[in-house]
Amino acid sequence: MGKYVIAGNWKMNKTPAEATELISAIKPLVADATCDVIVGVPFVDLQAALDATKGTKIGVAAQNCYWEKSGAFTGEIAADMLRVMGVGYVILGHSERRTFFGDTDATVAKRVRGALDAGLTVILCVGEYLEQRELGITGEVVAMQTKIALNGVSEEELARVIIAYEPVWAIGTGKTATAEQANEVCALIRNVLTDLYNETAAKAVTIQYGGSMNAANAAELLAMSDVDGGLIGGASLKPNDFATIVAAAK
Ligand code: 13P
Repeated sequence: MGKYVIAGNWKMNKTPAEATELISAIKPLVADATCDVIVGVPFVDLQAALDATKGTKIGVAAQNCYWEKSGAFTGEIAADMLRVMGVGYVILGHSERRTFFGDTDATVAKRVRGALDAGLTVILCVGEYLEQRELGITGEVVAMQTKIALNGVSEEELARVIIAYEPVWAIGTGKTATAEQANEVCALIRNVLTDLYNETAAKAVTIQYGGSMNAANAAELLAMSDVDGGLIGGASLKPNDFATIVAAAK
Protein backbone atom coordinates (compact mmCIF):
# COMPACT_ATOMS: atom_id res chain seq x y z
CA MET A 1 0.00 0.00 0.00
CA GLY A 2 1.40 3.43 0.85
CA LYS A 3 5.00 4.06 1.78
CA TYR A 4 5.70 3.33 5.47
CA VAL A 5 5.96 6.50 7.54
CA ILE A 6 6.61 6.63 11.28
CA ALA A 7 6.02 10.07 12.76
CA GLY A 8 6.50 11.19 16.32
CA ASN A 9 3.98 13.67 17.68
CA TRP A 10 5.77 15.24 20.60
CA LYS A 11 2.69 17.31 21.50
CA MET A 12 3.52 20.05 24.04
CA ASN A 13 6.79 18.56 25.22
CA LYS A 14 10.45 19.59 25.09
CA THR A 15 12.26 22.92 24.97
CA PRO A 16 14.57 23.65 22.00
CA ALA A 17 17.61 22.41 23.93
CA GLU A 18 15.75 19.25 24.90
CA ALA A 19 14.61 18.78 21.31
CA THR A 20 18.21 18.90 20.12
CA GLU A 21 19.13 16.34 22.75
CA LEU A 22 16.25 13.99 21.91
CA ILE A 23 16.91 14.14 18.16
CA SER A 24 20.63 13.52 18.76
CA ALA A 25 19.65 10.38 20.64
CA ILE A 26 17.17 9.25 17.97
CA LYS A 27 19.43 9.94 14.97
CA PRO A 28 21.90 7.04 15.21
CA LEU A 29 19.12 4.63 16.17
CA VAL A 30 17.12 5.28 12.98
CA ALA A 31 20.04 5.79 10.59
CA ASP A 32 19.25 2.54 8.76
CA ALA A 33 15.49 3.04 8.67
CA THR A 34 13.78 1.71 5.57
CA CYS A 35 10.67 3.84 6.23
CA ASP A 36 10.28 7.61 6.36
CA VAL A 37 10.83 9.06 9.83
CA ILE A 38 9.35 12.36 11.01
CA VAL A 39 9.47 14.27 14.27
CA GLY A 40 6.49 16.54 15.00
CA VAL A 41 7.65 19.19 17.43
CA PRO A 42 6.25 22.33 19.11
CA PHE A 43 6.62 25.52 17.03
CA VAL A 44 9.41 26.88 19.21
CA ASP A 45 11.45 23.72 18.61
CA LEU A 46 11.20 23.74 14.82
CA GLN A 47 14.50 25.51 14.15
CA ALA A 48 16.35 23.30 16.62
CA ALA A 49 14.78 20.22 15.01
CA LEU A 50 15.69 21.41 11.50
CA ASP A 51 19.28 22.00 12.62
CA ALA A 52 19.53 18.68 14.47
CA THR A 53 18.12 16.68 11.53
CA LYS A 54 20.24 18.41 8.87
CA GLY A 55 22.01 15.87 6.68
CA THR A 56 19.69 13.06 7.81
CA LYS A 57 16.52 11.71 6.22
CA ILE A 58 14.45 12.63 9.28
CA GLY A 59 11.63 15.01 8.37
CA VAL A 60 10.32 17.77 10.61
CA ALA A 61 6.64 18.46 11.20
CA ALA A 62 4.76 21.30 12.89
CA GLN A 63 1.64 20.39 14.85
CA ASN A 64 -0.77 22.92 13.33
CA CYS A 65 -0.90 25.87 10.93
CA TYR A 66 -3.29 28.62 9.87
CA TRP A 67 -4.75 29.02 6.40
CA GLU A 68 -4.25 32.75 5.82
CA LYS A 69 -0.84 33.86 4.55
CA SER A 70 -0.45 36.81 6.94
CA GLY A 71 -2.46 39.38 8.82
CA ALA A 72 -4.13 40.16 12.10
CA PHE A 73 -4.34 36.63 13.49
CA THR A 74 -2.67 36.89 16.88
CA GLY A 75 -1.04 33.68 17.97
CA GLU A 76 -1.37 31.87 14.64
CA ILE A 77 1.38 30.51 12.38
CA ALA A 78 0.95 30.54 8.59
CA ALA A 79 1.71 27.48 6.50
CA ASP A 80 4.01 29.63 4.36
CA MET A 81 6.05 30.60 7.42
CA LEU A 82 6.69 26.92 8.09
CA ARG A 83 7.60 26.22 4.49
CA VAL A 84 10.04 29.15 4.33
CA MET A 85 11.87 27.83 7.41
CA GLY A 86 12.31 24.49 5.68
CA VAL A 87 9.62 22.54 7.51
CA GLY A 88 8.24 19.80 5.28
CA TYR A 89 5.23 18.48 7.19
CA VAL A 90 2.34 19.62 9.33
CA ILE A 91 0.03 17.56 11.53
CA LEU A 92 -3.57 18.80 11.11
CA GLY A 93 -6.87 17.91 12.71
CA HIS A 94 -5.38 16.13 15.69
CA SER A 95 -8.14 15.16 18.13
CA GLU A 96 -6.54 17.31 20.83
CA ARG A 97 -6.92 20.35 18.52
CA ARG A 98 -10.50 19.34 17.77
CA THR A 99 -11.40 18.62 21.43
CA PHE A 100 -9.56 21.38 23.31
CA PHE A 101 -9.01 24.16 20.76
CA GLY A 102 -12.18 24.29 18.73
CA ASP A 103 -11.01 22.80 15.46
CA THR A 104 -13.90 21.49 13.37
CA ASP A 105 -14.08 19.50 10.15
CA ALA A 106 -14.53 22.82 8.34
CA THR A 107 -11.50 24.55 9.88
CA VAL A 108 -9.39 21.42 9.42
CA ALA A 109 -10.30 21.52 5.72
CA LYS A 110 -9.17 25.15 5.52
CA ARG A 111 -5.90 24.32 7.22
CA VAL A 112 -5.34 21.44 4.80
CA ARG A 113 -5.94 23.81 1.89
CA GLY A 114 -3.50 26.37 3.29
CA ALA A 115 -0.82 23.77 3.98
CA LEU A 116 -1.06 22.18 0.54
CA ASP A 117 -0.98 25.59 -1.15
CA ALA A 118 2.21 26.36 0.78
CA GLY A 119 3.82 23.16 -0.46
CA LEU A 120 3.72 21.25 2.82
CA THR A 121 2.88 17.59 3.24
CA VAL A 122 -0.09 17.14 5.56
CA ILE A 123 -0.56 14.47 8.21
CA LEU A 124 -4.34 14.57 8.51
CA CYS A 125 -5.73 13.05 11.69
CA VAL A 126 -9.17 11.46 11.85
CA GLY A 127 -10.78 9.24 14.45
CA GLU A 128 -13.87 8.52 16.48
CA TYR A 129 -14.75 9.09 20.12
CA LEU A 130 -15.56 6.04 22.26
CA GLU A 131 -19.27 6.95 22.27
CA GLN A 132 -19.26 6.96 18.49
CA ARG A 133 -17.59 3.55 18.33
CA GLU A 134 -20.14 2.20 20.80
CA LEU A 135 -22.94 3.60 18.65
CA GLY A 136 -21.50 1.75 15.67
CA ILE A 137 -20.86 4.92 13.66
CA THR A 138 -17.05 4.80 13.48
CA GLY A 139 -17.15 4.29 9.73
CA GLU A 140 -19.51 7.20 9.14
CA VAL A 141 -17.53 9.55 11.41
CA VAL A 142 -14.16 8.75 9.88
CA ALA A 143 -15.50 8.83 6.32
CA MET A 144 -17.09 12.23 6.95
CA GLN A 145 -13.94 13.69 8.52
CA THR A 146 -11.88 12.42 5.59
CA LYS A 147 -14.26 13.67 2.91
CA ILE A 148 -14.60 17.14 4.39
CA ALA A 149 -10.86 17.57 4.94
CA LEU A 150 -10.08 16.46 1.37
CA ASN A 151 -12.82 18.51 -0.28
CA GLY A 152 -11.14 20.27 -3.20
CA VAL A 153 -7.85 18.38 -2.85
CA SER A 154 -6.72 17.22 -6.28
CA GLU A 155 -5.34 13.78 -7.04
CA GLU A 156 -1.93 15.39 -7.58
CA GLU A 157 -2.12 17.07 -4.18
CA LEU A 158 -3.21 13.83 -2.53
CA ALA A 159 0.38 12.65 -3.00
CA ARG A 160 1.22 15.17 -0.24
CA VAL A 161 -1.38 13.85 2.19
CA ILE A 162 -0.77 11.22 4.86
CA ILE A 163 -3.80 10.14 6.84
CA ALA A 164 -3.51 9.12 10.47
CA TYR A 165 -6.35 7.08 11.91
CA GLU A 166 -6.35 7.86 15.61
CA PRO A 167 -9.29 6.53 17.63
CA VAL A 168 -9.66 9.15 20.36
CA TRP A 169 -10.23 6.50 23.03
CA ALA A 170 -6.80 5.02 22.29
CA ILE A 171 -4.83 8.26 22.54
CA GLY A 172 -2.70 8.53 25.64
CA THR A 173 -4.79 5.90 27.39
CA GLY A 174 -2.59 2.86 26.95
CA LYS A 175 -5.64 1.27 25.29
CA THR A 176 -4.56 0.36 21.78
CA ALA A 177 -7.01 -0.59 19.07
CA THR A 178 -6.55 -4.23 18.18
CA ALA A 179 -4.65 -4.80 14.98
CA GLU A 180 -7.93 -5.90 13.36
CA GLN A 181 -9.79 -2.77 14.52
CA ALA A 182 -6.98 -0.53 13.26
CA ASN A 183 -6.81 -2.32 9.94
CA GLU A 184 -10.57 -2.28 9.46
CA VAL A 185 -10.77 1.50 9.75
CA CYS A 186 -7.58 2.13 7.73
CA ALA A 187 -9.09 -0.05 4.97
CA LEU A 188 -12.34 1.89 5.22
CA ILE A 189 -10.42 5.16 4.78
CA ARG A 190 -8.73 3.68 1.72
CA ASN A 191 -12.15 2.80 0.30
CA VAL A 192 -13.25 6.39 0.84
CA LEU A 193 -10.15 7.51 -1.08
CA THR A 194 -10.96 5.06 -3.87
CA ASP A 195 -14.45 6.57 -4.12
CA LEU A 196 -13.11 10.14 -4.08
CA TYR A 197 -10.18 9.51 -6.46
CA ASN A 198 -9.38 6.05 -7.82
CA GLU A 199 -7.84 2.79 -6.66
CA THR A 200 -4.30 3.62 -7.75
CA ALA A 201 -4.31 6.98 -5.96
CA ALA A 202 -5.88 5.42 -2.87
CA LYS A 203 -3.30 2.64 -2.70
CA ALA A 204 -0.45 5.15 -2.86
CA VAL A 205 -1.63 7.06 0.23
CA THR A 206 0.12 6.32 3.52
CA ILE A 207 -2.49 5.55 6.16
CA GLN A 208 -1.07 5.47 9.67
CA TYR A 209 -2.50 4.18 12.90
CA GLY A 210 -2.05 6.25 16.07
CA GLY A 211 -3.13 5.72 19.66
CA SER A 212 -0.89 4.12 22.27
CA MET A 213 1.32 2.54 19.63
CA ASN A 214 4.47 1.43 21.40
CA ALA A 215 7.58 -0.72 21.09
CA ALA A 216 5.65 -3.82 22.17
CA ASN A 217 2.58 -3.57 19.90
CA ALA A 218 3.97 -1.79 16.83
CA ALA A 219 5.04 -4.86 14.87
CA GLU A 220 1.59 -6.45 14.99
CA LEU A 221 -0.18 -3.22 14.00
CA LEU A 222 2.30 -2.44 11.22
CA ALA A 223 1.99 -5.95 9.78
CA MET A 224 -1.65 -5.31 8.88
CA SER A 225 -2.46 -4.90 5.19
CA ASP A 226 -3.82 -1.34 5.34
CA VAL A 227 -1.68 0.11 8.15
CA ASP A 228 1.23 1.94 6.52
CA GLY A 229 2.83 3.50 9.54
CA GLY A 230 2.24 5.12 12.87
CA LEU A 231 1.70 8.48 14.52
CA ILE A 232 3.33 8.05 17.87
CA GLY A 233 2.75 10.18 20.95
CA GLY A 234 4.27 9.10 24.25
CA ALA A 235 6.64 6.49 22.81
CA SER A 236 8.15 9.04 20.41
CA LEU A 237 9.75 10.79 23.39
CA LYS A 238 11.72 7.64 24.24
CA PRO A 239 14.55 7.15 21.72
CA ASN A 240 14.82 3.37 22.05
CA ASP A 241 11.07 2.80 21.90
CA PHE A 242 10.70 5.12 18.92
CA ALA A 243 13.57 3.36 17.14
CA THR A 244 11.99 -0.05 17.82
CA ILE A 245 8.77 1.17 16.18
CA VAL A 246 10.74 2.55 13.21
CA ALA A 247 12.52 -0.80 12.84
CA ALA A 248 9.17 -2.60 12.86
CA ALA A 249 7.96 -0.59 9.85
CA LYS A 250 9.19 -2.61 6.93
P1 13P B 1 -0.11 8.28 22.24
O1 13P B 1 0.83 7.45 21.38
O2 13P B 1 0.58 8.92 23.39
O3 13P B 1 -1.34 7.51 22.60
O4 13P B 1 -0.59 9.49 21.30
C1 13P B 1 -1.05 9.20 20.04
C2 13P B 1 -1.24 10.48 19.32
O5 13P B 1 -2.12 11.25 19.63
C3 13P B 1 -0.32 10.79 18.22
O6 13P B 1 -0.76 11.89 17.52
